[in-house]
Amino acid sequence: MTDSLTILGLESSCDDTAAAVVRQIPGARAEVLSNVVFGQTELHSAYGGVVPEIAARAHAEKLDLCVIQALQEAGLTLKDMDAIAVTAGPGLIGGVMSGVMCAKGIAAATGLPLIGVNHLAGHALTPRLTDDISFPYLMLLVSGGHCQYLIARGPEDFTRLGGTIDDAPGEAFDKTARLLGLLQPGGPSVQAEAEMGDPKRFRFPRPLLDRPDCNLSFSGLKTALMRMRDQIVAEKGGLTRQDRADLCAGFQAAVVDTLAEKTRRALAIYMEGNPATPTVAVAGGVAANTAIRAALQKVCAEAGATFTAPPLRLCTDNAAMIAYAGLERYRSGARDGLDLTARPRWPLDKTSPALIGSGKKGAKA
Ligand code: KG4
Ligand code: ZN
Repeated sequence: MTDSLTILGLESSCDDTAAAVVRQIPGARAEVLSNVVFGQTELHSAYGGVVPEIAARAHAEKLDLCVIQALQEAGLTLKDMDAIAVTAGPGLIGGVMSGVMCAKGIAAATGLPLIGVNHLAGHALTPRLTDDISFPYLMLLVSGGHCQYLIARGPEDFTRLGGTIDDAPGEAFDKTARLLGLLQPGGPSVQAEAEMGDPKRFRFPRPLLDRPDCNLSFSGLKTALMRMRDQIVAEKGGLTRQDRADLCAGFQAAVVDTLAEKTRRALAIYMEGNPATPTVAVAGGVAANTAIRAALQKVCAEAGATFTAPPLRLCTDNAAMIAYAGLERYRSGARDGLDLTARPRWPLDKTSPALIGSGKKGAKA
Protein backbone atom coordinates (compact mmCIF):
# COMPACT_ATOMS: atom_id res chain seq x y z
CA MET A 1 0.00 0.00 0.00
CA THR A 2 1.51 3.34 -1.02
CA ASP A 3 -0.56 6.46 -1.64
CA SER A 4 -3.87 7.65 -0.27
CA LEU A 5 -6.70 6.74 -2.64
CA THR A 6 -10.03 8.52 -3.09
CA ILE A 7 -12.66 6.73 -5.16
CA LEU A 8 -16.08 7.86 -6.41
CA GLY A 9 -18.53 4.94 -6.58
CA LEU A 10 -21.83 4.63 -8.48
CA GLU A 11 -24.58 2.05 -7.94
CA SER A 12 -27.77 1.61 -10.00
CA SER A 13 -28.31 -2.15 -10.41
CA CYS A 14 -31.79 -2.36 -8.87
CA ASP A 15 -34.02 0.33 -7.35
CA ASP A 16 -31.53 2.54 -5.51
CA THR A 17 -29.59 5.30 -7.27
CA ALA A 18 -26.44 5.81 -5.22
CA ALA A 19 -23.13 7.65 -5.26
CA ALA A 20 -20.42 7.72 -2.59
CA VAL A 21 -16.86 8.77 -1.94
CA VAL A 22 -14.49 6.46 -0.06
CA ARG A 23 -10.91 7.28 0.89
CA GLN A 24 -8.11 5.13 2.22
CA ILE A 25 -4.98 6.61 3.71
CA PRO A 26 -2.02 4.18 3.85
CA GLY A 27 -2.01 2.15 7.05
CA ALA A 28 -5.50 3.30 8.06
CA ARG A 29 -8.97 1.90 7.67
CA ALA A 30 -10.93 3.11 4.63
CA GLU A 31 -13.30 5.96 5.40
CA VAL A 32 -16.72 6.68 3.89
CA LEU A 33 -16.66 10.43 3.14
CA SER A 34 -20.18 10.49 1.71
CA ASN A 35 -22.86 7.91 0.95
CA VAL A 36 -25.91 9.21 -0.92
CA VAL A 37 -28.84 6.91 -1.77
CA PHE A 38 -31.92 8.03 -3.72
CA GLY A 39 -34.51 5.28 -3.26
CA GLN A 40 -37.28 4.61 -5.79
CA THR A 41 -39.79 2.83 -3.55
CA GLU A 42 -42.67 5.21 -4.31
CA LEU A 43 -42.14 4.91 -8.09
CA HIS A 44 -42.72 1.16 -7.97
CA SER A 45 -45.20 0.86 -5.11
CA ALA A 46 -48.29 0.71 -7.33
CA TYR A 47 -46.87 -2.32 -9.18
CA GLY A 48 -45.96 -4.55 -6.23
CA GLY A 49 -42.35 -4.92 -7.39
CA VAL A 50 -39.53 -3.18 -9.23
CA VAL A 51 -40.43 -2.27 -12.84
CA PRO A 52 -37.11 -2.40 -14.75
CA GLU A 53 -37.96 0.34 -17.30
CA ILE A 54 -39.14 2.76 -14.60
CA ALA A 55 -36.01 1.99 -12.56
CA ALA A 56 -33.67 2.57 -15.52
CA ARG A 57 -35.26 5.92 -16.41
CA ALA A 58 -35.13 7.12 -12.80
CA HIS A 59 -31.45 6.14 -12.54
CA ALA A 60 -30.66 8.01 -15.77
CA GLU A 61 -32.45 11.11 -14.42
CA LYS A 62 -30.91 11.05 -10.94
CA LEU A 63 -27.36 9.72 -11.27
CA ASP A 64 -25.67 13.04 -12.02
CA LEU A 65 -27.54 14.77 -9.17
CA CYS A 66 -26.52 11.93 -6.89
CA VAL A 67 -22.85 12.32 -7.89
CA ILE A 68 -22.97 16.09 -7.31
CA GLN A 69 -24.47 15.56 -3.85
CA ALA A 70 -21.93 12.86 -2.93
CA LEU A 71 -19.03 15.13 -3.93
CA GLN A 72 -20.56 18.09 -2.05
CA GLU A 73 -21.10 16.05 1.12
CA ALA A 74 -17.51 14.81 0.93
CA GLY A 75 -16.34 18.42 0.44
CA LEU A 76 -14.43 17.36 -2.68
CA THR A 77 -14.54 17.73 -6.47
CA LEU A 78 -13.86 15.33 -9.32
CA LYS A 79 -10.28 16.67 -9.37
CA ASP A 80 -9.74 15.07 -5.94
CA MET A 81 -10.72 11.60 -7.18
CA ASP A 82 -8.20 8.92 -8.16
CA ALA A 83 -10.69 6.72 -9.99
CA ILE A 84 -14.38 6.14 -10.63
CA ALA A 85 -15.91 2.78 -9.72
CA VAL A 86 -19.28 1.66 -11.03
CA THR A 87 -21.51 -1.40 -10.67
CA ALA A 88 -21.18 -3.18 -14.03
CA GLY A 89 -23.49 -6.08 -13.04
CA PRO A 90 -25.24 -8.28 -12.11
CA GLY A 91 -28.64 -6.60 -12.01
CA LEU A 92 -31.44 -5.08 -14.04
CA ILE A 93 -29.68 -4.32 -17.28
CA GLY A 94 -31.23 -0.88 -17.97
CA GLY A 95 -30.17 0.39 -14.56
CA VAL A 96 -26.69 -1.09 -14.79
CA MET A 97 -26.29 0.53 -18.23
CA SER A 98 -27.36 3.92 -16.84
CA GLY A 99 -24.63 3.73 -14.21
CA VAL A 100 -21.97 2.47 -16.59
CA MET A 101 -22.78 5.20 -19.14
CA CYS A 102 -22.68 7.90 -16.45
CA ALA A 103 -19.32 6.63 -15.14
CA LYS A 104 -17.90 6.41 -18.66
CA GLY A 105 -18.99 9.99 -19.33
CA ILE A 106 -17.19 11.21 -16.19
CA ALA A 107 -14.10 9.10 -17.01
CA ALA A 108 -13.98 10.40 -20.61
CA ALA A 109 -14.39 14.02 -19.50
CA THR A 110 -11.88 13.92 -16.64
CA GLY A 111 -9.41 11.24 -17.71
CA LEU A 112 -10.05 9.37 -14.42
CA PRO A 113 -9.45 5.61 -14.52
CA LEU A 114 -12.66 3.56 -14.71
CA ILE A 115 -13.19 0.45 -12.57
CA GLY A 116 -16.12 -1.90 -13.19
CA VAL A 117 -17.33 -3.57 -10.00
CA ASN A 118 -19.40 -6.70 -9.44
CA HIS A 119 -22.35 -5.66 -7.23
CA LEU A 120 -22.06 -8.90 -5.25
CA ALA A 121 -18.36 -8.26 -4.62
CA GLY A 122 -19.42 -4.86 -3.27
CA HIS A 123 -21.66 -6.57 -0.67
CA ALA A 124 -19.11 -9.33 -0.01
CA LEU A 125 -16.21 -6.92 0.61
CA THR A 126 -18.20 -4.54 2.86
CA PRO A 127 -16.92 -6.18 6.10
CA ARG A 128 -13.40 -5.17 5.06
CA LEU A 129 -14.57 -1.57 4.71
CA THR A 130 -16.44 -1.51 8.02
CA ASP A 131 -14.36 -3.87 10.19
CA ASP A 132 -11.05 -4.17 8.35
CA ILE A 133 -11.28 -7.99 8.43
CA SER A 134 -8.64 -9.93 6.52
CA PHE A 135 -9.02 -12.68 3.94
CA PRO A 136 -10.13 -15.44 4.08
CA TYR A 137 -13.58 -15.29 5.62
CA LEU A 138 -16.94 -16.97 5.17
CA MET A 139 -19.59 -14.67 3.75
CA LEU A 140 -23.36 -15.09 3.76
CA LEU A 141 -24.80 -12.77 1.16
CA VAL A 142 -28.56 -12.37 1.70
CA SER A 143 -30.54 -9.79 -0.25
CA GLY A 144 -33.61 -9.30 -2.39
CA GLY A 145 -31.96 -10.96 -5.38
CA HIS A 146 -29.27 -13.16 -3.87
CA CYS A 147 -28.53 -15.77 -1.27
CA GLN A 148 -25.19 -17.52 -1.25
CA TYR A 149 -22.39 -18.76 0.98
CA LEU A 150 -18.99 -17.64 -0.28
CA ILE A 151 -15.43 -18.10 0.85
CA ALA A 152 -13.82 -14.71 0.21
CA ARG A 153 -10.09 -15.14 -0.43
CA GLY A 154 -9.33 -11.91 -2.30
CA PRO A 155 -11.06 -8.93 -3.94
CA GLU A 156 -11.84 -11.09 -6.95
CA ASP A 157 -11.36 -14.55 -5.52
CA PHE A 158 -14.57 -16.16 -4.23
CA THR A 159 -15.68 -19.78 -3.90
CA ARG A 160 -19.40 -20.47 -3.62
CA LEU A 161 -20.30 -23.23 -1.18
CA GLY A 162 -24.04 -23.12 -1.85
CA GLY A 163 -27.00 -20.85 -2.35
CA THR A 164 -30.71 -20.64 -3.00
CA ILE A 165 -32.16 -22.87 -5.67
CA ASP A 166 -35.18 -20.56 -6.16
CA ASP A 167 -36.18 -17.32 -4.38
CA ALA A 168 -33.81 -15.14 -2.38
CA PRO A 169 -34.88 -14.50 1.24
CA GLY A 170 -35.55 -10.79 0.61
CA GLU A 171 -37.84 -11.80 -2.24
CA ALA A 172 -39.66 -14.14 0.16
CA PHE A 173 -40.07 -11.30 2.70
CA ASP A 174 -41.36 -9.01 -0.08
CA LYS A 175 -43.86 -11.63 -1.34
CA THR A 176 -45.04 -12.31 2.20
CA ALA A 177 -45.69 -8.59 2.69
CA ARG A 178 -47.62 -8.45 -0.58
CA LEU A 179 -49.78 -11.47 0.37
CA LEU A 180 -50.64 -9.82 3.68
CA GLY A 181 -51.18 -6.30 2.34
CA LEU A 182 -48.13 -4.85 4.09
CA LEU A 183 -45.90 -2.08 2.75
CA GLN A 184 -42.92 -2.68 0.43
CA PRO A 185 -40.05 -3.36 0.85
CA GLY A 186 -41.41 -6.32 2.74
CA GLY A 187 -38.43 -7.08 5.00
CA PRO A 188 -38.85 -4.23 7.50
CA SER A 189 -42.70 -4.51 7.43
CA VAL A 190 -42.71 -8.26 8.06
CA GLN A 191 -40.05 -7.93 10.78
CA ALA A 192 -42.12 -5.26 12.57
CA GLU A 193 -45.26 -7.46 12.45
CA ALA A 194 -43.28 -10.56 13.50
CA GLU A 195 -42.11 -8.77 16.64
CA MET A 196 -45.76 -8.64 17.78
CA GLY A 197 -46.62 -12.18 16.74
CA ASP A 198 -46.44 -15.75 18.04
CA PRO A 199 -43.95 -17.75 15.93
CA LYS A 200 -45.40 -21.08 17.13
CA ARG A 201 -49.05 -20.58 16.07
CA PHE A 202 -48.36 -21.43 12.42
CA ARG A 203 -45.80 -24.09 11.54
CA PHE A 204 -43.95 -23.23 8.31
CA PRO A 205 -41.71 -25.76 6.52
CA ARG A 206 -37.89 -25.67 6.90
CA PRO A 207 -36.95 -26.45 3.26
CA LEU A 208 -33.90 -28.54 2.32
CA LEU A 209 -32.82 -29.13 5.93
CA ASP A 210 -32.98 -32.85 5.15
CA ARG A 211 -30.09 -32.41 2.70
CA PRO A 212 -26.51 -32.22 3.97
CA ASP A 213 -25.35 -29.41 1.64
CA CYS A 214 -25.71 -25.66 2.16
CA ASN A 215 -28.20 -24.97 -0.60
CA LEU A 216 -31.43 -23.26 0.38
CA SER A 217 -34.99 -22.87 -0.91
CA PHE A 218 -37.51 -20.18 0.04
CA SER A 219 -40.23 -20.35 -2.60
CA GLY A 220 -42.28 -22.95 -0.67
CA LEU A 221 -42.72 -20.54 2.23
CA LYS A 222 -44.97 -18.19 0.27
CA THR A 223 -47.14 -21.09 -0.90
CA ALA A 224 -47.47 -22.23 2.73
CA LEU A 225 -48.30 -18.68 3.79
CA MET A 226 -50.91 -18.30 1.08
CA ARG A 227 -52.60 -21.54 2.15
CA MET A 228 -52.66 -20.51 5.81
CA ARG A 229 -53.94 -17.03 4.97
CA ASP A 230 -56.71 -18.42 2.73
CA GLN A 231 -57.77 -20.90 5.40
CA ILE A 232 -58.14 -18.15 8.02
CA VAL A 233 -60.09 -16.00 5.54
CA ALA A 234 -62.37 -18.94 4.69
CA GLU A 235 -63.00 -19.67 8.39
CA LYS A 236 -63.28 -16.15 9.79
CA GLY A 237 -63.99 -13.95 6.78
CA GLY A 238 -60.75 -11.98 7.09
CA LEU A 239 -57.44 -11.51 8.89
CA THR A 240 -57.14 -9.79 12.25
CA ARG A 241 -54.07 -7.76 13.15
CA GLN A 242 -52.97 -10.66 15.37
CA ASP A 243 -53.41 -13.23 12.57
CA ARG A 244 -51.16 -11.12 10.37
CA ALA A 245 -48.53 -10.74 13.10
CA ASP A 246 -48.59 -14.49 13.85
CA LEU A 247 -48.22 -15.36 10.15
CA CYS A 248 -45.25 -12.98 9.89
CA ALA A 249 -43.69 -14.41 13.04
CA GLY A 250 -44.09 -18.00 11.79
CA PHE A 251 -42.66 -17.12 8.38
CA GLN A 252 -39.70 -15.22 9.84
CA ALA A 253 -38.94 -18.05 12.28
CA ALA A 254 -38.72 -20.47 9.32
CA VAL A 255 -36.27 -18.19 7.49
CA VAL A 256 -34.22 -17.70 10.67
CA ASP A 257 -34.02 -21.45 11.43
CA THR A 258 -33.11 -22.30 7.84
CA LEU A 259 -30.37 -19.69 7.59
CA ALA A 260 -29.01 -20.66 11.03
CA GLU A 261 -28.80 -24.37 10.20
CA LYS A 262 -27.31 -23.86 6.74
CA THR A 263 -24.78 -21.40 8.18
CA ARG A 264 -23.77 -24.08 10.72
CA ARG A 265 -23.12 -26.44 7.78
CA ALA A 266 -21.31 -23.86 5.65
CA LEU A 267 -19.11 -23.01 8.63
CA ALA A 268 -18.25 -26.68 9.18
CA ILE A 269 -17.27 -27.03 5.50
CA TYR A 270 -15.28 -23.78 5.65
CA MET A 271 -13.45 -24.86 8.83
CA GLU A 272 -12.30 -28.13 7.21
CA GLY A 273 -10.06 -26.07 4.92
CA ASN A 274 -9.47 -23.08 7.19
CA PRO A 275 -9.00 -24.37 10.74
CA ALA A 276 -7.64 -21.09 12.18
CA THR A 277 -10.17 -18.92 14.06
CA PRO A 278 -12.80 -18.32 11.39
CA THR A 279 -14.63 -15.09 10.68
CA VAL A 280 -18.18 -15.16 9.38
CA ALA A 281 -19.58 -12.03 7.76
CA VAL A 282 -23.11 -11.32 6.61
CA ALA A 283 -24.15 -8.66 4.10
CA GLY A 284 -27.04 -7.71 1.81
CA GLY A 285 -30.39 -6.12 2.64
CA VAL A 286 -31.75 -9.09 4.63
CA ALA A 287 -28.76 -8.81 6.96
CA ALA A 288 -30.65 -5.81 8.37
CA ASN A 289 -33.06 -8.28 10.03
CA THR A 290 -32.38 -8.32 13.76
CA ALA A 291 -33.72 -11.87 14.35
CA ILE A 292 -31.51 -13.23 11.55
CA ARG A 293 -28.47 -11.36 12.89
CA ALA A 294 -29.08 -12.69 16.40
CA ALA A 295 -29.43 -16.29 15.16
CA LEU A 296 -26.23 -16.10 13.08
CA GLN A 297 -24.39 -14.54 16.01
CA LYS A 298 -25.43 -17.52 18.16
CA VAL A 299 -24.34 -20.09 15.55
CA CYS A 300 -20.92 -18.39 15.32
CA ALA A 301 -20.49 -18.15 19.10
CA GLU A 302 -21.25 -21.90 19.42
CA ALA A 303 -18.66 -22.73 16.74
CA GLY A 304 -16.01 -20.37 18.16
CA ALA A 305 -16.18 -18.12 15.09
CA THR A 306 -16.07 -14.34 15.01
CA PHE A 307 -19.25 -12.80 13.60
CA THR A 308 -19.41 -9.48 11.83
CA ALA A 309 -22.25 -7.61 10.15
CA PRO A 310 -22.01 -4.16 8.57
CA PRO A 311 -24.15 -1.31 9.93
CA LEU A 312 -27.63 -1.31 8.40
CA ARG A 313 -27.05 1.54 5.93
CA LEU A 314 -24.15 -0.43 4.43
CA CYS A 315 -26.10 -3.72 4.36
CA THR A 316 -28.69 -2.52 1.85
CA ASP A 317 -27.69 -1.32 -1.62
CA ASN A 318 -25.31 1.64 -1.51
CA ALA A 319 -22.40 3.05 -3.47
CA ALA A 320 -19.85 3.14 -0.62
CA MET A 321 -19.48 -0.62 -1.03
CA ILE A 322 -18.95 -0.14 -4.78
CA ALA A 323 -16.35 2.59 -4.21
CA TYR A 324 -14.57 0.35 -1.69
CA ALA A 325 -14.62 -2.73 -3.96
CA GLY A 326 -13.31 -0.45 -6.72
CA LEU A 327 -10.56 0.72 -4.38
CA GLU A 328 -9.50 -2.89 -3.76
CA ARG A 329 -9.51 -3.61 -7.50
CA TYR A 330 -7.56 -0.41 -8.19
CA ARG A 331 -4.90 -1.37 -5.62
CA SER A 332 -4.54 -4.75 -7.29
CA GLY A 333 -3.82 -2.97 -10.60
CA ALA A 334 -7.19 -3.52 -12.29
CA ARG A 335 -8.38 -0.87 -14.77
CA ASP A 336 -11.25 -0.97 -17.26
CA GLY A 337 -11.48 0.83 -20.58
CA LEU A 338 -14.32 2.81 -22.06
CA ASP A 339 -15.43 -0.48 -23.63
CA LEU A 340 -16.60 -1.69 -20.17
CA THR A 341 -19.93 -3.47 -20.66
CA ALA A 342 -22.96 -3.79 -18.40
CA ARG A 343 -23.64 -7.42 -17.49
CA PRO A 344 -27.06 -8.70 -16.35
CA ARG A 345 -25.41 -11.86 -15.01
CA TRP A 346 -22.01 -12.02 -13.42
CA PRO A 347 -21.38 -14.86 -10.97
CA LEU A 348 -18.72 -14.17 -8.33
CA ASP A 349 -17.50 -17.73 -8.48
CA LYS A 350 -16.95 -18.38 -12.17
CA THR A 351 -16.32 -22.09 -11.60
CA SER A 352 -19.57 -23.12 -9.91
CA PRO A 353 -22.66 -23.78 -12.01
CA ALA A 354 -25.59 -21.32 -11.93
CA LEU A 355 -28.22 -22.34 -9.37
CA ILE A 356 -31.14 -20.15 -10.31
CA GLY A 357 -32.89 -18.24 -13.07
CA SER A 358 -34.43 -14.80 -13.25
CA GLY A 359 -36.64 -13.32 -10.55
CA LYS A 360 -38.45 -10.12 -9.73
CA LYS A 361 -35.17 -8.36 -9.04
CA GLY A 362 -33.80 -9.35 -12.43
CA ALA A 363 -31.19 -11.83 -13.48
CA LYS A 364 -29.29 -13.44 -10.69
CA ALA A 365 -25.84 -14.89 -10.39
O1 KG4 B 1 -29.30 -5.66 -0.75
P1 KG4 B 1 -30.60 -5.01 -1.04
O2 KG4 B 1 -30.76 -3.55 -0.67
O3 KG4 B 1 -30.96 -5.10 -2.58
C1 KG4 B 1 -30.69 -6.23 -3.34
O4 KG4 B 1 -31.57 -7.10 -3.37
O5 KG4 B 1 -29.56 -6.29 -3.92
O6 KG4 B 1 -31.74 -5.87 -0.35
C2 KG4 B 1 -33.10 -5.51 -0.41
C3 KG4 B 1 -33.91 -6.61 0.25
C4 KG4 B 1 -35.43 -6.44 0.09
O7 KG4 B 1 -35.98 -7.64 -0.40
C5 KG4 B 1 -35.87 -6.13 1.51
O8 KG4 B 1 -37.20 -6.58 1.79
C6 KG4 B 1 -34.85 -6.86 2.33
O9 KG4 B 1 -33.63 -6.65 1.65
N1 KG4 B 1 -34.77 -6.34 3.70
C7 KG4 B 1 -35.07 -7.07 4.80
C8 KG4 B 1 -34.98 -6.18 5.90
N2 KG4 B 1 -34.60 -4.95 5.43
C9 KG4 B 1 -34.48 -5.06 4.08
N3 KG4 B 1 -35.43 -8.36 4.92
C10 KG4 B 1 -35.69 -8.81 6.16
N4 KG4 B 1 -35.64 -8.03 7.27
C11 KG4 B 1 -35.29 -6.72 7.20
N5 KG4 B 1 -35.24 -5.97 8.30
ZN1 ZN C 1 -27.61 -5.68 -3.36
